[in-house]
Amino acid sequence: MIYRLIKPTEYDALDDFLYEAIFIPEGAPPPPRDVILTPSLRHYVKGFGRTGDICFICEDNGQIVGMAWSRILDEPGCRGYGNIGDGLPELAISVLSDYRNKGIGTGLIRRLHDALGAVGYDKISLSVQQKNPAIHLYCYSSN
Ligand SMILES: CC(C)(COP(=O)(O)OP(=O)(O)OC[C@H]1O[C@@H](n2cnc3c(N)ncnc32)[C@H](O)[C@@H]1OP(=O)(O)O)[C@@H](O)C(=O)NCCC(=O)NCCS
Repeated sequence: MIYRLIKPTEYDALDDFLYEAIFIPEGAPPPPRDVILTPSLRHYVKGFGRTGDICFICEDNGQIVGMAWSRILDEPGCRGYGNIGDGLPELAISVLSDYRNKGIGTGLIRRLHDALGAVGYDKISLSVQQKNPAIHLYCYSSN
């Protein structure tokens, strides 16, 4: 596995990982793919690469298998679901299903956390549903 920053030529893949990041409760049908076009989700990826955006990817044999990215989503009309204050970066993360529970999510969050710390952020926000077992990931990763 290789962890590294995303390249601009890979920004299109953010759409795939945005879709993967949507929590689907057990037994529920997956949402249609075009759900990522709704404005409340679109602003997590639209125009990615602007100042302050950071994205780490995990690559396995040339395939991107996980991504964690952050951006500041505090403009009126496009606040993130996890916004807890202006000027704070918000996290989005997903790992392809075949690659989950192997520590990749933790590896991505640690790298993103370190990169944000290096540019002066000591906090990052996120939105997670209480039923999503991913909630444990954030507790572990911040220790
Ligand atoms: C959440 C997600 C990114 C975690 O990535 P991952 O590579 O599987 O995470 P890790 O292997 O590093 O797991 C870290 C911890 O998170 C917990 N965890 C994460 N996902 C879990 C799941 N689906 N079921 C149970 N525990 C889970 C585990 O407790 C694990 O700790 P452990 O290794 O001590 O058991 C991945 O499961 C995913 O893409 N899920 C779907 C999208 C999603 O929910 N995104 C987050 C929205 S807030």
